[in-house]
Amino acid sequence: MEKNVAEAEIEAWVKIDEGVFRLRHSSPRGMMGYSPYLLIDGNEAALIDPGASIHSSEIFDAIGKLIPPDRISLMIAHHQDPDICGAIPELSKLGVSAPIALHWRTSTLAVYYGISGPFYLVNENKWEWTFSSGRKLKFIPAPYCHFAGSIMTWDEKTGILFSGDLFGALSDVGETFADASYHEPMKAFHEHYMPSREILAPVMDSILSLDIKQIAPQHGKVIREDVRGCVMELRSLRCGSYLGNTEAVNVCRSPYSEKDESLIVERLIARLALLFGRERTRLALERIKGTGEGGKAMGLSDFLAALVATQGPRWFSVIEPYLYSLLDEFRVALPDYIRQTAEIPIPEPLSDSGTPGQYARDRNTGLWDGSAFRKRLGSVLAERDGKEFALIYFSVDNLEEINQLHGRHAGDDAIRGLAYLAQNASTDPGWSAYKLAAPYVAVIADGFGKEATRSTVERIRYEAAEAKFSTERLTVSAGILYGDALRAQAEANGANNQEEIPNAADKLLLARLFSARRNASGGICDVLTDGASDYYLKKRILLVEPDDSYVRFLEPLFAAKGYFLVTVPDGASVDMNRAEEIPDIVVAEAMTPRMGGFDLRRQMLNSVRGKRIPFILISRRKDEEFIKRARDLGIVYFLKKPFSKTELIGLVDNLIGAT
Ligand SMILES: [Fe+2]
Ligand SMILES: [Fe+2]
Repeated sequence: MEKNVAEAEIEAWVKIDEGVFRLRHSSPRGMMGYSPYLLIDGNEAALIDPGASIHSSEIFDAIGKLIPPDRISLMIAHHQDPDICGAIPELSKLGVSAPIALHWRTSTLAVYYGISGPFYLVNENKWEWTFSSGRKLKFIPAPYCHFAGSIMTWDEKTGILFSGDLFGALSDVGETFADASYHEPMKAFHEHYMPSREILAPVMDSILSLDIKQIAPQHGKVIREDVRGCVMELRSLRCGSYLGNTEAVNVCRSPYSEKDESLIVERLIARLALLFGRERTRLALERIKGTGEGGKAMGLSDFLAALVATQGPRWFSVIEPYLYSLLDEFRVALPDYIRQTAEIPIPEPLSDSGTPGQYARDRNTGLWDGSAFRKRLGSVLAERDGKEFALIYFSVDNLEEINQLHGRHAGDDAIRGLAYLAQNASTDPGWSAYKLAAPYVAVIADGFGKEATRSTVERIRYEAAEAKFSTERLTVSAGILYGDALRAQAEANGANNQEEIPNAADKLLLARLFSARRNASGGICDVLTDGASDYYLKKRILLVEPDDSYVRFLEPLFAAKGYFLVTVPDGASVDMNRAEEIPDIVVAEAMTPRMGGFDLRRQMLNSVRGKRIPFILISRRKDEEFIKRARDLGIVYFLKKPFSKTELIGLVDNLIGAT
């Protein structure tokens, strides 16, 4: 019985390059098919990620259709999972007597499959294997992606990267080659199986300098178009520990609007259609709609509940990490459905108002969430006696750096420290602190005038810089909005309801905060003109480009995406010490008449703020010398002209996001 199932699942070899073949398998339960690869080199061959034990005899027969199995001179196990190593003992019994290339950590577990070796430990063999023809396979460490001893293999001759679980996708095997729709199921797979961005990103960086023609993952499809785009996509993906932990994501968000909810539902449906196919998804949606009140648009929480009720928990669990990243992106709170299923205790009611369960405390800081902030702001505004008050947004400016250097826990410590200082800065009952969507802490200073507010904020910034909340010194900035300015602004814009005024306040506060953050040592900003709000809310790109035709080509592109573009012909005209001029990202031509991209980058590395700014080098020349110079300066992104608009925009979006 088992054998028949396996026979039905095994399909033919597909040639992906000269002498390189992929064997397609679908999974007995759908979703996670896998593919061994056979690489033939003259009289020798390498069998890459051999396969599962339930398929071993079929794999052996399939090999026989291409070459005599005893010509296999190497088996490669990118890690120790059963879909890779399970077939090896049986294949060896049937006559494949090749050594098995793996990392020593993998070898410690591989023995439990009954694999007797011999092992070819890549870490003890210069991370390479040479066929008798001289052709080299290079092994690339991918530690903790998703096993400690994970590796990938790059074939020098064809430029194929055999990537193991990396670049895989949550989808049935289907077509051999990936198209643009592959990105979503690929991201879904990594959200589930890769531990975190801190672990994934450096591995992606390490392969950027390889000349990769195709990526051949063990799950999913072969990537031959937009290889770099896929690498960049994974480089910035939030995955693993960033997501899926209800405690961690139950940070306070603004209450969401119906528009946000329906956008999230739409995106979830699009993801489901990519994972389960359009037809199955259409049928599922019909069933889901059947549970709602006829014709009424379904909210996010109801949608999730109906999805589980009609399709079972699996449909929910495959989109769960994506849901968390959408909640983050839209800065909305956990839907009730998840709160209830996660059995998060109902928080105590606010002292001044509010119903139990309506607001939540942030798990990291213990502060009340964004909905509580809005509620409190509403009641302060309702006292229309013109009493003085101030709103403040605080941020830890070097949070990203702390996260990168010391991990997310250190970042959490820093935020917790800031929250502590903000909360305890005054014993006045009018002073209350809240935790907004990461990484901001908000304060309502009811009854506080300008002087009192500024001096209290100054003190918090000073104490944060002095305190030992984190291994790094905290740089804290603050945007302040006084009550009279908010009232004037609200009147001018005709905003007068509970919804619009807090939204206007949020925008004005963010603009002030961003403006304050432009100082290398952090700062305070409490005045900003209307036009300046837009200016500060837009992300700023500094383009160093002497060639007018490129400037004209790029200008409308960035404008359409809502970026603020500053163009200069060479790096000599850039002053990184002027707060007003500090960009969010630099795109620089390597060769300019005066100071070029390399010199500018070197100068930036010498400034506290400058070295944190993402840097993209562009040039018509991209030879070995230039690549080396770029690498020496830590430049990871180097685009050769002419590049495609989508490539550059995609990279910029990934690095800094449009808003
Ligand atoms: Fe795996
Ligand atoms: Fe796998």
